[in-house]
Amino acid sequence: MPSPDALRAAVRDVVDFPKPGIVFKDITPILANGPLFRDAITLLCNPAADQRIDKIVGIDARGFIFAAAVADRLGVGFVPIRKKGKLPWKTRQTSYSLEYGESVVELHEDAVIPGERVMLVDDLLATGGTAAAALQLLTELGAEIVSVSFLIELSFLHGRDKLGSHPIRSILSY
Ligand code: PRP
Ligand code: ADE
Repeated sequence: MPSPDALRAAVRDVVDFPKPGIVFKDITPILANGPLFRDAITLLCNPAADQRIDKIVGIDARGFIFAAAVADRLGVGFVPIRKKGKLPWKTRQTSYSLEYGESVVELHEDAVIPGERVMLVDDLLATGGTAAAALQLLTELGAEIVSVSFLIELSFLHGRDKLGSHPIRSILSY
């Protein structure tokens, strides 16, 4: 199994982006490096080793990069949770706040069949508002949440406290 050390070394801190006081964790150096990106996907796939998973759910937009690659690696379907106004079919939506703003996310009503076993994948857990909103939509559709997985967790923001009793996993914790 790959070591997360090289991934940690590649994450770039950008101070005061997108607002003063925020230290933004820039994951683009990982994406730009083939072996590092592959290692990130391998580590994110770990929870699936001993679990049946029907679908991977990703959150617009950085989450898509990792979640779609995990879905491809596992050979299962991918479901997008998108920012408001982007999904064309019937949707469920919920509003939420995140570390540096507020937003609305949507999910197609038929994206998950009740009882389907899903893994939620996002690049980063900060305050937990985004992931909590995603889990609310998935739960409303009757999904069974097998794992909630992040490349990065800003543990000092205690985001996992908003995510209930689901299994939460992160590769890099700060
Ligand atoms: C970022 C990140 C997570 C979310 C985490 O998304 O990708 O989804 O913030 O923050 P929280 O835990 O405080 O909710 P952002 O909304 O910035 O969108 P992007 O992926 O389009 O950059
Ligand atoms: N999303 C929410 N907070 C973030 C941060 N500090 N860096 C990158 N993405 C984020």
